[in-house]
Order: sequence, then C-alpha cells, then structure tokens
Amino acid sequence: MSVDATGSAPGGEPHDTGSRLVPPVAPHLIVLFGAGGDLARRKLLPGLYHLARARLLCKHRVLGVDLGDRSAEEFRGQVRSAVTEFGRQRVDDEELERFLDRVDVVSIDDGPAALAEAAAAHLGALGAGARVLHYLSVPPAAALEVIGLVDAAGLVEGTRIIMEKPFGTDLRTARALNAALHETFDESQIFRIDHFLGKEAALNILAFRFANGLFEPIWNRQHIDHVQIDVPETLGLGQRTSFYESTGAYRDMVVTHLFQVLAFTAMEPPTDFTPLSISEEKQKVFRSMLPIQPTDVVRGQYGGYRDEPGVDPHSDTETFVALRCRIDNWRWAGVPFYLRTGKRMAEGARIISIAFREPPRSMFPPGSGVGAHGPDHLTFDLADASKLSLSFYGKRPGTGMQLDKQSLQFALHEDADVLEAYERLIHDAMCGDHTLFTTSDSIERLWEVSDPLLSDPAPVRTYAPGSWGPNAVHQLIAPHAWRLPFERARRTT
Ligand code: BG6
Repeated sequence: MSVDATGSAPGGEPHDTGSRLVPPVAPHLIVLFGAGGDLARRKLLPGLYHLARARLLCKHRVLGVDLGDRSAEEFRGQVRSAVTEFGRQRVDDEELERFLDRVDVVSIDDGPAALAEAAAAHLGALGAGARVLHYLSVPPAAALEVIGLVDAAGLVEGTRIIMEKPFGTDLRTARALNAALHETFDESQIFRIDHFLGKEAALNILAFRFANGLFEPIWNRQHIDHVQIDVPETLGLGQRTSFYESTGAYRDMVVTHLFQVLAFTAMEPPTDFTPLSISEEKQKVFRSMLPIQPTDVVRGQYGGYRDEPGVDPHSDTETFVALRCRIDNWRWAGVPFYLRTGKRMAEGARIISIAFREPPRSMFPPGSGVGAHGPDHLTFDLADASKLSLSFYGKRPGTGMQLDKQSLQFALHEDADVLEAYERLIHDAMCGDHTLFTTSDSIERLWEVSDPLLSDPAPVRTYAPGSWGPNAVHQLIAPHAWRLPFERARRTT
C-alpha cells in the first residue's frame, strides 16, 4: 500500500494493515486536554504515535492543551520522551520526527481565542473534510470548565469528544455531569471511554460467546455455579493519591471497568454488532443487577496508605474492594458474581473465571482426586498477553484411577502490531463507532445500584501490602474459593 507524505492511506476504501481490515479515517485534529498529565504521557501520546506509525491515523495534527506555559518545542520534547519511555515498540526515529512535526501546544490559560486560533490554523493545514476529536484527560472537577472553553472557542459543532472517567462520583453528580454535558454536546458526539472494553481479551469474550455454538448453551444458571472477575494490582498510587483519596477502588475500578466486563460476560446475544444492540443488552444486565448492599462488600486499605503524601491520616478511602453481586434475570438468578480489585496486592492479574457446576454425584472412590481442585473453570485472562484456559478433571497416567486437574490453554495475543486498548478506542471514536463506549443511561444505572453501598459503606479493613486483601475476602466467597493465587501457581507447573 502506498502512503502519502502525511501518512494517510489513499482512497476511501478500508485498508488492510496486515492484521485486520479497518475503515478509513478522515483527516483529524486531535485536541488533547490534560496533555501534560500522567495518562497522556503513559498511554495517549505513545498511543497516537503508534496509530500514526501503523498508518491508522490519516492526515492529522495533535494539539496539546494544558495549564502553564510551554513552547511547542518544549512540548515536543515531552512527547518525544513519553513515546520513547512508554511506547510499546522500538521507536523509529524518522517516524517519530514526522509525528512530532504535527504536534503543537496551547495553554489553557490563554483562553478560548488562543485555542480557536490554533485549531483553525491546523484545520486549515489539514484541508477540507478535516474533523476535530477532543480528548478530555482532565480531573473531574475541571471537565465542565474545559467544555465551557471548547464551546467558547466555537469547537463544538461537528466535533466529537472522548470523556475520561470518573463520570461523576454518585448518581446525583453523574446526572448533573450528563445534564451539563448535554447542554453543549449531543449524546451522539460523546464517547465515554472505558479502556477495559478496548482490550483484545475483552472483545474476545464477545467472539468466544457469540461466534461459536459450543459454549452459549451452557452459559447460564443451569451449568454455571459462579463467576469471578478478579483484577489485583501490585502497583501503589504513586503521584495519584490526591485523585484516589476522593475516589477509592470501588469508584476507580468497579463502577467502571469491572461492571463493564461483567456486562460482556452476562449479556444476552445482541441482535447485531452495532452500538445500539450492544448497549441495549448491556443496559439490560445493569437493569437486572440487584443494588449492592454493604454486607456483600469487603473494603480494604493497605497498611501504610495513610502515611503517604497527600493522604488524610484518618482516611477511610478503600484501596481494595471485593463484592458479591447478583443479576436477577432468568439466565443468572442464583449465580453470584464475585468481583475483586486492589492496589499493592500480591500479584497483578486480570481474570474472568467461570466456574461450572460439579457433577451431581461421583462414581469415583474417595481419594481419587475428583473435585479436589475445585470445579471446572473457563478463564479469560485480560492481561496484555491474553490467554484463555479451560480446566477440567482427567485421568493421571498410570495404574489405578487417579484424577488430576488438566488445562487447555490458548494464547490469543501474539501479534505485536495489535492495538493497545486506548489506541483502538481513539481509532473507533475517530470512525464515529460507539460500540465499545458507555452511555449516560448505563452510567447512571450503575451509580443507582451502587447507592446502598455508597451511602453506608462497609468498614475499611487493613491488609498487608503484598497480600491478597483482608481475610474477610475469603468469607465473602465461601464455600467457594478465589481462583487466584492458586490458579496462577498451577499454571506455571
Ligand atoms: C485505571 C485506573 O482506569 O485503570 C487505575 O484508574 C488502574 O487505578 C488502571 O491501575 C488499570 O488499567 P490496566 O489497563 O493497567 O489494567
């Protein structure tokens, strides 16, 4: 495929990037608010570079917007080091310089006129048909102010906007935020990003469930005993304590990522692979979710959190949360969904584990090993090198009838060119594809089911950094057991 000097694919046809067919993207000005922030540095700027390098960004310009005063040269230097430090592939110097030539910055302090002027200059250079994509990577308190700025700069009509979480902190604030957003942008222009839904492995849940006839017949309460969505993290909070103090693990991870993944796991087959059908089915799951009761939740805080800079010495913020939730519909009634996530835990992992019911009785004698390693499991591993495994009992080779847990494992992610979650979602937003983005209705419903917990939070319990959370987490799931860390130990043998 020939590519013009700006890196655009010629023609209006979908083109093959070597790994998949993708629709053409119009020339774009990407206006990145919060361009000096942590997310921009770790994910968004390296991601945009990768999209450009993979020829998935057609003609483009990146306009960073942030507080303070920095020259375009200084900003390019920041972008260069972000790409070099956090890029997923070896940096191609020539490509990087080409990318940097298309990067500019404007200070938020210079107001709407400066933003409008910079945007107009870049749009002029991109030519007719160029579109604007705003990316709001700013703290929640700043979001509405930025939207006011965009409006005052005349950059609303015909543009799209990616919003970062958190989308409010409870039902009241989420409603207020959505109402304020809708005063400026139409819902069709808004892309609320949840990067877990851009992960290849999350999309594989949909492929696995709805592209095959094998598993869907057993994907229900008759055959599934319980489900675990487990996302322990080893990392602490670094510079993020001030954000985290008012957020906590439940708002940061559960209301967003874990519930979204739960919806993919639990939803009915959508009519088709379109945004409306997918979000309708997800919303039905959320509507069937029973309100989250404090007695179904374990909140934890790692020892030493209160001593960290920026943390209240009496802080009640949870750095860990585990919960049992229920989806009260025909498919899932009586099947508990256990969710867990936390910082400074023993290991980092992101798994969804489906535990199947055990046989009603066993013909194998006691001591044969059947059932000794828990029920059969299907596990989706959402790690970057994602895997899928199915574990079941089989005969240990040799005399007698000794049973062992066996496992079939599939690696799903071998292609180095595969898009990282943010890259995929930015690209989808540029194509106007809402399929993997969340709607205002679903966000409001999730805050609604969270209300009993948020208005009367379970007490916070201390856990040792490097552990699997407070002990109460085992009582929460009893008589079952958390799949991690035991699964992990078994897999490496
Ligand atoms: C972010 C949370 O949305 O997701 C972080 O704010 C968390 O606290 C991160 O660490 C996890 O994402 P990933 O893709 O690294 O698993």
